[in-house]
Amino acid sequence: MAILPIYEVPHPILTEVSKPVTTVDDRVRTLLDDMAETMFAAPGVGLAAPQVGVSERIIVAAVPIRDGVAREEEGDEDEGSKAFLTELVNPVIVERHGTLLFDEGCLSVPDLVFEVERAEAIVIEALDRNGEPIRFRAEGFYAVIFQHEIDHLDGITLYGRMGPFKRKLYLKKVQKQRMKDGARSKDGAPVPTPG
Ligand code: NI
Repeated sequence: MAILPIYEVPHPILTEVSKPVTTVDDRVRTLLDDMAETMFAAPGVGLAAPQVGVSERIIVAAVPIRDGVAREEEGDEDEGSKAFLTELVNPVIVERHGTLLFDEGCLSVPDLVFEVERAEAIVIEALDRNGEPIRFRAEGFYAVIFQHEIDHLDGITLYGRMGPFKRKLYLKKVQKQRMKDGARSKDGAPVPTPG
C-alpha cells in the first residue's frame, strides 16, 4: 500500500475522459488499495483515479453499502473508518431521482467550496474489486459523493464548473500559494512528477 500524490487543477489529466477498465486484475486491485489509503490519509470521503494521475474509470469512497443501499445512518460520523469503503470499477449511474444542492469540496481543487445541484438519489451499476457486477442505491450525502467522483471520470471538476472570471481569480490565488510552498508545479502536478 502506498499514499499516492494528488494532482490538482488545472492539470490536464483532470479534464480528460477516463478509459474503461477492461480487466479487473491485480494491477487494478493494487491501485484500489493505494487509492483507499490516499483517500483516508488526505483525509477525504472520495477519490477518483485521475486525481492520482491514472485516467481510468476507478473510484473509491468512504461510504458503506448496507443491504444494497448507501444511506447515512446514525453513528456514521466515523466516516473515515476503513469499514466504510466502497471500491468501484467502471461505475455508471443508471437512475437519478430528485435534486438537492450541496456545498462540495475536492482534494484536487484546494481551498474551495462550491455549490452543485445533484440528484438526491441514484442507482449505480459497477464492478467490484473482483470484477463481479454490483448494483446499489445511494441517497443524500452519499449519493453526492458518488456523483462527484464519477464526474471526475468524465473530466468534470468543481474548477470546471466555475465561471471564467471566478476561475481566473481562484487560479491566481492557488498558483501564488504553489510558488510559495513549492510542493506543486504551476499546473497542479505533484513535485517531483511521478513516473
Ligand atoms: Ni473531487
